[in-house]
Amino acid sequence: MSKPRLDGKVAIVTGGASGIGEAMARLFAASGATVVIADIQDALGEAVAASIGPPCTYTRCDVTDEAQVEATVAAAVAAHGRLDVMLSNAGVLLLTGSVTDMDLSALDRVMAVNFRGAAACVKHAARAMVSAGTRGAIVCTGSVACVQGGYGPASYTASKHALLGLVRAAAGELGRHGVRVNLVSPGGVATPLSMAVAGMGAQEIEASTEAHSVLRGKVLRAADVAEAALFLASDQAGFVSGHNLIVDGATTAV
Ligand code: NAI
Repeated sequence: MSKPRLDGKVAIVTGGASGIGEAMARLFAASGATVVIADIQDALGEAVAASIGPPCTYTRCDVTDEAQVEATVAAAVAAHGRLDVMLSNAGVLLLTGSVTDMDLSALDRVMAVNFRGAAACVKHAARAMVSAGTRGAIVCTGSVACVQGGYGPASYTASKHALLGLVRAAAGELGRHGVRVNLVSPGGVATPLSMAVAGMGAQEIEASTEAHSVLRGKVLRAADVAEAALFLASDQAGFVSGHNLIVDGATTAV
Protein backbone atom coordinates (compact mmCIF):
# COMPACT_ATOMS: atom_id res chain seq x y z
CA MET A 1 0.00 0.00 0.00
CA SER A 2 1.35 3.42 -0.88
CA LYS A 3 1.77 5.97 1.87
CA PRO A 4 -1.29 8.19 2.37
CA ARG A 5 -1.03 11.62 0.75
CA LEU A 6 -3.02 14.76 1.53
CA ASP A 7 -2.02 16.93 -1.42
CA GLY A 8 -4.40 19.85 -1.89
CA LYS A 9 -6.06 19.25 1.48
CA VAL A 10 -6.32 21.70 4.37
CA ALA A 11 -5.97 20.50 7.95
CA ILE A 12 -6.31 22.20 11.34
CA VAL A 13 -4.48 20.61 14.27
CA THR A 14 -5.42 21.81 17.75
CA GLY A 15 -2.69 21.43 20.34
CA GLY A 16 -0.26 21.42 17.43
CA ALA A 17 2.44 23.40 19.23
CA SER A 18 3.69 20.43 21.24
CA GLY A 19 3.93 16.67 21.61
CA ILE A 20 1.57 14.50 19.56
CA GLY A 21 -0.06 17.50 17.85
CA GLU A 22 3.32 18.81 16.72
CA ALA A 23 4.16 15.39 15.27
CA MET A 24 0.80 15.41 13.45
CA ALA A 25 1.45 18.90 12.06
CA ARG A 26 4.88 17.85 10.77
CA LEU A 27 3.68 14.58 9.22
CA PHE A 28 0.53 16.08 7.66
CA ALA A 29 2.57 18.93 6.14
CA ALA A 30 5.15 16.44 4.85
CA SER A 31 2.24 14.49 3.32
CA GLY A 32 1.13 17.46 1.26
CA ALA A 33 -1.49 19.14 3.47
CA THR A 34 -1.73 22.83 4.21
CA VAL A 35 -1.61 22.78 8.01
CA VAL A 36 -3.00 25.35 10.44
CA ILE A 37 -1.62 24.87 13.94
CA ALA A 38 -4.08 26.06 16.59
CA ASP A 39 -2.89 26.30 20.18
CA ILE A 40 -2.53 28.61 23.15
CA GLN A 41 1.28 28.41 23.36
CA ASP A 42 2.01 31.20 20.88
CA ALA A 43 5.82 31.16 20.90
CA LEU A 44 6.01 27.37 20.53
CA GLY A 45 3.29 27.29 17.88
CA GLU A 46 4.93 30.04 15.84
CA ALA A 47 8.28 28.23 16.07
CA VAL A 48 6.81 24.89 14.93
CA ALA A 49 5.00 26.56 12.02
CA ALA A 50 8.17 28.42 11.02
CA SER A 51 10.25 25.24 11.11
CA ILE A 52 7.69 23.43 8.94
CA GLY A 53 7.59 26.43 6.60
CA PRO A 54 4.86 27.85 4.32
CA PRO A 55 2.02 27.19 3.80
CA CYS A 56 1.92 26.00 7.43
CA THR A 57 0.74 28.73 9.81
CA TYR A 58 0.04 29.17 13.50
CA THR A 59 -3.08 30.72 14.98
CA ARG A 60 -4.00 31.26 18.60
CA CYS A 61 -7.11 29.27 19.47
CA ASP A 62 -8.25 28.34 22.95
CA VAL A 63 -10.58 25.40 22.32
CA THR A 64 -12.51 26.14 25.52
CA ASP A 65 -13.82 29.29 23.80
CA GLU A 66 -16.27 28.26 21.09
CA ALA A 67 -16.02 31.64 19.35
CA GLN A 68 -12.27 31.13 18.88
CA VAL A 69 -12.82 27.67 17.41
CA GLU A 70 -15.45 29.03 15.03
CA ALA A 71 -13.15 31.89 14.01
CA THR A 72 -10.21 29.53 13.46
CA VAL A 73 -12.26 27.33 11.14
CA ALA A 74 -13.64 30.37 9.28
CA ALA A 75 -10.14 31.85 8.90
CA ALA A 76 -8.73 28.57 7.54
CA VAL A 77 -11.55 28.35 4.98
CA ALA A 78 -11.12 32.03 4.04
CA ALA A 79 -7.35 31.67 3.63
CA HIS A 80 -7.21 28.30 1.90
CA GLY A 81 -10.66 27.87 0.37
CA ARG A 82 -11.63 24.67 2.16
CA LEU A 83 -11.30 22.50 5.26
CA ASP A 84 -10.71 18.79 4.75
CA VAL A 85 -9.31 17.60 8.07
CA MET A 86 -9.82 18.58 11.70
CA LEU A 87 -7.37 17.03 14.13
CA SER A 88 -8.96 17.77 17.49
CA ASN A 89 -5.97 16.92 19.60
CA ALA A 90 -5.62 19.58 22.33
CA GLY A 91 -5.82 18.02 25.75
CA VAL A 92 -4.82 18.34 29.38
CA LEU A 93 -4.31 15.92 32.24
CA LEU A 94 -4.68 17.47 35.69
CA LEU A 95 -3.99 15.63 38.92
CA THR A 96 -7.52 15.97 40.24
CA GLY A 97 -7.03 13.46 43.08
CA SER A 98 -8.72 10.19 43.92
CA VAL A 99 -12.47 9.94 43.45
CA THR A 100 -13.13 10.55 47.15
CA ASP A 101 -11.02 13.74 47.10
CA MET A 102 -11.78 14.84 43.56
CA ASP A 103 -11.25 18.55 42.87
CA LEU A 104 -14.44 19.27 40.93
CA SER A 105 -13.34 22.65 39.60
CA ALA A 106 -10.24 20.96 38.15
CA LEU A 107 -12.55 18.29 36.70
CA ASP A 108 -14.49 21.12 35.00
CA ARG A 109 -11.23 22.39 33.45
CA VAL A 110 -10.32 18.93 32.15
CA MET A 111 -13.79 18.47 30.66
CA ALA A 112 -13.69 21.99 29.18
CA VAL A 113 -10.59 21.19 27.11
CA ASN A 114 -10.75 17.44 26.46
CA PHE A 115 -14.49 17.09 25.89
CA ARG A 116 -16.23 20.44 25.40
CA GLY A 117 -13.29 21.83 23.41
CA ALA A 118 -13.30 18.77 21.17
CA ALA A 119 -17.08 19.10 20.77
CA ALA A 120 -16.62 22.68 19.55
CA CYS A 121 -13.97 21.51 17.06
CA VAL A 122 -16.19 18.69 15.77
CA LYS A 123 -19.18 21.05 15.52
CA HIS A 124 -17.50 23.85 13.60
CA ALA A 125 -15.36 21.63 11.39
CA ALA A 126 -18.43 19.57 10.48
CA ARG A 127 -20.45 22.71 9.71
CA ALA A 128 -17.75 23.94 7.34
CA MET A 129 -17.42 20.54 5.65
CA VAL A 130 -21.16 19.94 5.31
CA SER A 131 -21.92 23.43 3.99
CA ALA A 132 -19.15 23.12 1.38
CA GLY A 133 -20.05 19.54 0.46
CA THR A 134 -16.55 18.40 1.45
CA ARG A 135 -16.07 14.71 2.25
CA GLY A 136 -13.95 15.66 5.25
CA ALA A 137 -12.31 13.72 8.04
CA ILE A 138 -12.33 14.58 11.73
CA VAL A 139 -9.83 12.77 13.93
CA CYS A 140 -9.94 13.31 17.69
CA THR A 141 -7.06 12.29 19.91
CA GLY A 142 -8.52 9.95 22.48
CA SER A 143 -6.42 7.79 24.77
CA VAL A 144 -6.38 4.29 26.14
CA ALA A 145 -8.38 6.11 28.86
CA CYS A 146 -11.31 6.05 26.39
CA VAL A 147 -11.71 2.35 27.09
CA GLN A 148 -9.89 1.72 30.38
CA GLY A 149 -10.72 2.96 33.86
CA GLY A 150 -7.29 2.77 35.42
CA TYR A 151 -5.25 5.07 33.17
CA GLY A 152 -4.92 8.46 34.84
CA PRO A 153 -7.25 10.33 37.17
CA ALA A 154 -11.02 9.78 36.98
CA SER A 155 -11.51 13.28 35.50
CA TYR A 156 -9.22 12.45 32.55
CA THR A 157 -10.80 9.02 32.07
CA ALA A 158 -14.30 10.52 32.15
CA SER A 159 -13.35 13.21 29.62
CA LYS A 160 -11.92 10.63 27.22
CA HIS A 161 -14.86 8.23 27.62
CA ALA A 162 -17.17 11.16 26.84
CA LEU A 163 -15.07 11.95 23.77
CA LEU A 164 -15.49 8.38 22.50
CA GLY A 165 -19.26 8.80 22.80
CA LEU A 166 -19.14 12.12 20.98
CA VAL A 167 -17.13 10.64 18.12
CA ARG A 168 -19.49 7.69 17.69
CA ALA A 169 -22.56 9.95 17.76
CA ALA A 170 -20.98 12.43 15.35
CA ALA A 171 -19.94 9.64 12.96
CA GLY A 172 -23.54 8.45 12.94
CA GLU A 173 -24.95 11.89 12.22
CA LEU A 174 -22.38 13.05 9.72
CA GLY A 175 -22.07 9.91 7.62
CA ARG A 176 -24.88 10.96 5.30
CA HIS A 177 -22.82 14.02 4.43
CA GLY A 178 -19.73 11.91 3.68
CA VAL A 179 -17.89 13.27 6.71
CA ARG A 180 -15.96 10.64 8.67
CA VAL A 181 -15.23 10.96 12.41
CA ASN A 182 -12.69 8.78 14.22
CA LEU A 183 -10.42 8.63 17.24
CA VAL A 184 -6.75 7.82 17.47
CA SER A 185 -6.06 6.56 20.99
CA PRO A 186 -2.45 6.31 22.13
CA GLY A 187 -0.93 4.62 25.11
CA GLY A 188 1.80 6.44 27.01
CA VAL A 189 3.98 8.76 24.91
CA ALA A 190 6.76 10.96 26.30
CA THR A 191 5.46 14.51 25.79
CA PRO A 192 5.40 17.60 28.01
CA LEU A 193 1.94 16.47 29.23
CA SER A 194 3.02 13.02 30.39
CA MET A 195 6.42 14.20 31.65
CA ALA A 196 4.82 16.90 33.83
CA VAL A 197 2.26 14.49 35.26
CA ALA A 198 4.74 11.68 35.92
CA GLY A 199 7.51 14.01 37.07
CA MET A 200 9.89 12.12 34.75
CA GLY A 201 12.07 12.91 31.77
CA ALA A 202 11.44 11.50 28.30
CA GLN A 203 13.91 8.63 28.71
CA GLU A 204 12.42 7.55 32.03
CA ILE A 205 8.89 7.60 30.60
CA GLU A 206 9.97 5.60 27.58
CA ALA A 207 11.81 3.05 29.74
CA SER A 208 8.74 2.69 31.96
CA THR A 209 6.28 2.31 29.07
CA GLU A 210 8.58 -0.20 27.37
CA ALA A 211 8.83 -2.21 30.59
CA HIS A 212 5.02 -2.36 30.87
CA SER A 213 4.40 -2.86 27.19
CA VAL A 214 3.06 -6.07 25.64
CA LEU A 215 4.76 -5.35 22.31
CA ARG A 216 8.48 -5.43 23.01
CA GLY A 217 11.37 -3.94 21.08
CA LYS A 218 9.70 -0.66 20.20
CA VAL A 219 8.86 2.49 22.10
CA LEU A 220 5.66 4.37 21.22
CA ARG A 221 6.52 7.84 19.98
CA ALA A 222 4.39 10.82 18.97
CA ALA A 223 5.29 10.15 15.32
CA ASP A 224 3.67 6.69 15.53
CA VAL A 225 0.42 8.27 16.69
CA ALA A 226 0.64 10.81 13.87
CA GLU A 227 1.00 7.98 11.32
CA ALA A 228 -2.20 6.36 12.61
CA ALA A 229 -4.00 9.73 12.44
CA LEU A 230 -2.72 10.23 8.89
CA PHE A 231 -4.29 6.95 7.84
CA LEU A 232 -7.62 7.89 9.44
CA ALA A 233 -7.57 11.32 7.77
CA SER A 234 -6.66 9.98 4.35
CA ASP A 235 -8.79 8.65 1.51
CA GLN A 236 -7.26 5.22 2.25
CA ALA A 237 -9.56 5.11 5.28
CA GLY A 238 -12.51 6.13 3.10
CA PHE A 239 -14.93 3.64 4.72
CA VAL A 240 -13.58 3.95 8.28
CA SER A 241 -15.80 6.03 10.54
CA GLY A 242 -16.86 5.87 14.19
CA HIS A 243 -13.69 3.90 14.88
CA ASN A 244 -11.33 4.11 17.85
CA LEU A 245 -7.86 3.23 16.54
CA ILE A 246 -5.91 2.25 19.65
CA VAL A 247 -2.15 2.65 19.30
CA ASP A 248 -0.84 0.93 22.41
CA GLY A 249 0.92 -2.24 21.30
CA ALA A 250 -1.97 -4.44 22.56
CA THR A 251 -1.76 -3.25 26.16
CA THR A 252 -5.53 -2.72 26.49
CA ALA A 253 -6.31 -5.82 24.45
CA VAL A 254 -4.86 -8.40 26.82
P1 NAI B 1 1.24 18.20 25.11
O1 NAI B 1 1.07 18.91 26.41
O2 NAI B 1 2.60 18.01 24.56
O3 NAI B 1 0.36 18.91 23.99
C1 NAI B 1 -0.94 19.35 24.25
C2 NAI B 1 -1.12 20.66 23.52
O4 NAI B 1 -2.48 21.09 23.73
C3 NAI B 1 -0.22 21.77 24.07
O5 NAI B 1 0.49 22.40 23.01
C4 NAI B 1 -1.18 22.72 24.74
O6 NAI B 1 -0.77 24.08 24.69
C5 NAI B 1 -2.45 22.48 23.94
N1 NAI B 1 -3.63 22.92 24.66
C6 NAI B 1 -3.94 22.70 25.95
N2 NAI B 1 -5.08 23.33 26.28
C7 NAI B 1 -5.49 23.95 25.14
C8 NAI B 1 -6.60 24.77 24.84
N3 NAI B 1 -7.49 25.11 25.78
N4 NAI B 1 -6.73 25.23 23.57
C9 NAI B 1 -5.82 24.92 22.62
N5 NAI B 1 -4.74 24.16 22.86
C10 NAI B 1 -4.58 23.69 24.11
O7 NAI B 1 0.51 16.80 25.33
P2 NAI B 1 0.33 15.53 24.36
O8 NAI B 1 0.74 14.37 25.16
O9 NAI B 1 0.90 15.76 23.04
O10 NAI B 1 -1.27 15.49 24.28
C11 NAI B 1 -1.98 15.58 23.05
C12 NAI B 1 -3.23 14.74 23.15
O11 NAI B 1 -2.84 13.38 23.32
C13 NAI B 1 -4.12 15.07 24.35
O12 NAI B 1 -5.47 15.03 23.93
C14 NAI B 1 -3.83 13.95 25.32
O13 NAI B 1 -4.92 13.70 26.18
C15 NAI B 1 -3.59 12.80 24.36
N6 NAI B 1 -2.86 11.66 24.90
C16 NAI B 1 -1.56 11.78 25.34
C17 NAI B 1 -0.89 10.68 25.82
C18 NAI B 1 0.51 10.76 26.32
O14 NAI B 1 0.99 9.78 26.94
N7 NAI B 1 1.24 11.84 26.09
C19 NAI B 1 -1.54 9.35 25.87
C20 NAI B 1 -2.89 9.35 25.38
C21 NAI B 1 -3.51 10.45 24.91
